[in-house]
Amino acid sequence: MTVQCPYALLDLDALRANLARVRVLAPRSKVLAVVKANAYGHGLEEIAHALRAADGFAVARVEEAIALRRAHVLQRIVVLSGFWDSDQLTACIHFRLEPVIHNLAQIELLANCSGAKSLRVWLKLDSGMHRLGLAPEEFPQVLAQVTSLLGPRAVTLMTHLACADEFGDCTTQAQLALFERLTAGLEAERSIANSAAILAWPRAHADWVRPGLMLYGVSPFAGRQAQELGLTPVMTLKSRVIALKAVAKGEAVGYGRGWTAPRPSRLGIVAAGYGDGYPREVALDTKVLVEGQPAPVVGRVSMDLISVDLTDLPQVRIGSEVTLWGEGLPVEHLACQAGTIPYTLLCRVAARVPRVIKQVNRDARQSCL
Ligand SMILES: Cc1ncc(COP(=O)(O)O)c(C=O)c1O
Repeated sequence: MTVQCPYALLDLDALRANLARVRVLAPRSKVLAVVKANAYGHGLEEIAHALRAADGFAVARVEEAIALRRAHVLQRIVVLSGFWDSDQLTACIHFRLEPVIHNLAQIELLANCSGAKSLRVWLKLDSGMHRLGLAPEEFPQVLAQVTSLLGPRAVTLMTHLACADEFGDCTTQAQLALFERLTAGLEAERSIANSAAILAWPRAHADWVRPGLMLYGVSPFAGRQAQELGLTPVMTLKSRVIALKAVAKGEAVGYGRGWTAPRPSRLGIVAAGYGDGYPREVALDTKVLVEGQPAPVVGRVSMDLISVDLTDLPQVRIGSEVTLWGEGLPVEHLACQAGTIPYTLLCRVAARVPRVIKQVNRDARQSCL
């Protein structure tokens, strides 16, 4: 059966190699693989199964964690946004999830829940990001409370860095110093580092690292390529040319007549648009790869289609393969041209786009997830 276009081709060997890279960079830390938001658009369950060598997983929501348990994922699962009500707390207990405790309302729910004794939690300090987390002045007291409710072994201490992708940044140094001061001498395990901190801040590695973006083979740093960081992209978004069109010099193309042919031109119409997650806001010089050759996107991106200028690629035919991002065309680069970050492009790959596992044997049939 032909695969629907566009499709997201997933290289699970690259995923596992990126996990191995994390282990090389942080050899003394356990790895909590961050698979929230549908594993950054790659597909939650498949990615979790492929990452079974990870020591645990992190998701944002209780529902995502339950989906992992229902998919027979047995490792530890941390819920980064924690629980917000008693039903979610009960679900955490029932499914052996490890919620993040970040505010005092959660402590009240914990104290009033008779079944909570078996729970493991991650206690989060707001060390300067000012998003989720306990204020430094309330942290010691809440830690004492949680420890008396659940026991000392049930708590992992964590914080999150606001600017780890900025080398030598003094915010990171201040956040690290505060976390180190407030957790000094405590027996509990600690966790600080996201991808950028794993790569740039060895001081932040601690007992558990929490890589997200780098596992998917994408650089967390503006202006630094994944390849130079030893990472390989997992997702390549692919499609095909579904129509060819000749336009005369001076003819305009697409909604709003967004591009005018500067010469007699041959256009390829590609099955991909913002309805699939391809960004509408691309800059003028944005390119895709057609049969491996760069070709500029012309006119506005529409919901299901883009037009590319194939005038200099006469060999291209209907059915020719198009790479929108991924292998040979870093998603970081396209994100930059679309005025965004790679996280948003990956997370926005639409539900209608099939995720397809790249087979090790290239001749083998590709299997749909
Ligand atoms: C608390 C926390 N830890 C770790 C991560 C992983 O971050 P990254 O994808 O930059 O590695 C995230 C992602 O947003 C997060 O919210």
